[in-house]
Amino acid sequence: MKWLCSVGIAVSLALQPALADELFGDHPLTPQARDAFVSELLKKMTTDEKIGQLRLISVGPDNPKEAIREMIKQGQVGAIFNTVTRGDIRAMQDQVMDLSRLKIPLFFAYDVVHGQRTVFPISLGLASSFNLEAVKTVGRISAYEAADDGLNMTWAPMVDVSRDPRWGRASEGFGEDTYLTEVMGRTMVEAMQGKSPADRYSVMTSVKHFAAYGAVEGGREYNSVDMSPQRLFNDYMPPYKAALDAGSGGVMVALNSLNGTPASADSWLLKDLLRDQWGFKGITISDHGAIKELIKHGVASDPRDAVRVALKSGINMSMSDEYYSKYLPELLSSGAVTMQELDDAARHVLNVKYDMGLFNDPYSHLGPKGSDPQNTNAESRLHRQQAREVARESLVLLKNRLQTLPLKKSATIAVVGPLADSQRDMMGSWSAAGVATQTVTVLTGMKNVVGESGKILYAKGANVTDDKGIVDFLNQYEQAVSVDSRSPQEMIDEAVNTAKQADVVVAVVGEAQGMAHEASSRTELALPQSQRQLIAALKATGKPLVLVLMNGRPLTLVKEDQQADAILETWFAGTEGGNAIADVLFGDYNPSGKLPMSFPRSVGQIPVYYSHLNTGRPYNPEKPNKYTSRYFDEVNAPLYPFGYGLSYTTFRVSPVTLSAPTMKRDGALKASVEVINTGDREGATAVQMYLQDVTASISRPVKVLKGFQKISLKPGETRTVTFPIDNEALKFWNARMQYVSEPGQFNVFIGLDSARVQQGSFELQ
Ligand code: NOJ
Repeated sequence: MKWLCSVGIAVSLALQPALADELFGDHPLTPQARDAFVSELLKKMTTDEKIGQLRLISVGPDNPKEAIREMIKQGQVGAIFNTVTRGDIRAMQDQVMDLSRLKIPLFFAYDVVHGQRTVFPISLGLASSFNLEAVKTVGRISAYEAADDGLNMTWAPMVDVSRDPRWGRASEGFGEDTYLTEVMGRTMVEAMQGKSPADRYSVMTSVKHFAAYGAVEGGREYNSVDMSPQRLFNDYMPPYKAALDAGSGGVMVALNSLNGTPASADSWLLKDLLRDQWGFKGITISDHGAIKELIKHGVASDPRDAVRVALKSGINMSMSDEYYSKYLPELLSSGAVTMQELDDAARHVLNVKYDMGLFNDPYSHLGPKGSDPQNTNAESRLHRQQAREVARESLVLLKNRLQTLPLKKSATIAVVGPLADSQRDMMGSWSAAGVATQTVTVLTGMKNVVGESGKILYAKGANVTDDKGIVDFLNQYEQAVSVDSRSPQEMIDEAVNTAKQADVVVAVVGEAQGMAHEASSRTELALPQSQRQLIAALKATGKPLVLVLMNGRPLTLVKEDQQADAILETWFAGTEGGNAIADVLFGDYNPSGKLPMSFPRSVGQIPVYYSHLNTGRPYNPEKPNKYTSRYFDEVNAPLYPFGYGLSYTTFRVSPVTLSAPTMKRDGALKASVEVINTGDREGATAVQMYLQDVTASISRPVKVLKGFQKISLKPGETRTVTFPIDNEALKFWNARMQYVSEPGQFNVFIGLDSARVQQGSFELQ
């Protein structure tokens, strides 16, 4: 018994040796052994202890440490979230071992979405890398650091496909595309869980938010979702399914309703689909307070009813509401809920604890007592080099007129803007246990590169926003945004004077991290007015103007695209963001990121996404016709399309070659292009392959991404890039909800973004 090494536990064993001996041991991590073990354990548990396992809480004003200690003693809590240091976690696990009757270990969870101590780029930025190796790095290091802090589970990955940038949580996902989200989510699960979530440096994932949270109406947070089954299964479901097929042990259930039924009350979603059809064996967890919210959704009449509905619908563990504990005893005694239903829910919780290895060693992610780090935030615990490498790949060059970039290290550069020196913002939202003071800003990163060879001048130039209402909103829970005491004009004057002394101006503008977070929906996607005024004043100086954007969603940038000489999209790039951005600005790294979401020209275009249907009257800009699908005051195309991103070199893509003109259902073919680096620098780019089912039983999108490869080429180098195509890639859910491929013509598009592509076609027989 490994866990006997801990002194604290040896004491507790002395209290109930027989019971503990029965529970803990070298249990083989197989489903058969687990099922037998959990069945035996359930027999030993009282009803209250079973109910206790369904409770997930965090320490806070509602649940102070003392209250939690008492709950632990009584076996009234199954898991804890938001506690993130080994010392604090150990203290609670010790309480389980010392005070509770059965000593069923707690598991500990946290929102490790884009890093733990080391903060990586937000997921939307990671998606921009179009590089699964980068995703693996983020997954492995996040899991390592989280497990090293004693955590067993993460509330990630977030794989909600989102085509509405008004939704602040678009920042947390991998963008608008189903395939990109699917492969990135799957890779993240595999990387975080490793060979087994029981391994010392792995954590169990909890994919979220099931289902279709990214499609909330109007992009308004917590709003409802209503969509056809075809769209749901063709576009929104595949990423969740992929994460589960990769073995994600947990599913976090969405807060929204889907076609009228709140996800937490949807037995079709949580039982018929998830368990019966998809064969999910792990745990379902409601999102924060979701069971209570069933009353406001209007599907439960009172708290007792909400518990009945949630449990019967398939919610195993309840996050942050006490309703299960409060009302299940009564529901059981009245027969409204059966013991079998309670056992099923408790079994799922115990199953994942078993899979986490907690019955082999409740301290498996904690190690021996004396091993806790002296300084949780020690520099030595960070993975800076990897953070810098991943961050570089997440940066997307949107514009580069007359090779304004890269900058000369010997130049005098005015670095301006409210985000230029903001450590907090660089981390982005959901920055887990990251520490702002350990984060490198753009200003610092640029100074690091330039050293003594050039000159960096700085002026803040503007507040993130001068709108007091928005500042108050952003500072509601933390002092996140500081407002300068000077007047806007004074700040602009200082920035203009600084700009005049420089050869080139770099303005770091965008959103405060809190603008792209949970509960941060927007109706306007323009830069705040204070920053627009700053840009206009800088432009008027006549100096070359580089915009470095920090934001968590596509913004509307038509004006800025005209004003700026160069634009670099950097999202929120994490702990090493400033160094990575400086690497790109000065050409030490050639940018290679591509957009995972289309950038609309205006809010009125939303939703704008590349994989739309053609309609019966598609608009053709070369032959404009009034009675076609269009706006009369705006073009249909986005400002920057999905998959778009420039490099300091140039590439040319040859016409598509297909290995055969036809394909049988049980066959496969290959589509290839030659990509040549036509510029004078080495560079990487993501080559993208899209397919179109030209004529089918239902309308299919004008193109859908089905493959990508990131390649690096030396100047003049040519590479053949080949994409395999099989029947699976051609399937879709038809009008009768059958998953089929249909014979006929398919177009194959290959290019360096979704808009400019080479085309081939083949016939499926
Ligand atoms: C609510 C959010 O919707 C969810 O994504 C998150 O994991 C939980 N809170 C826990 O922080």
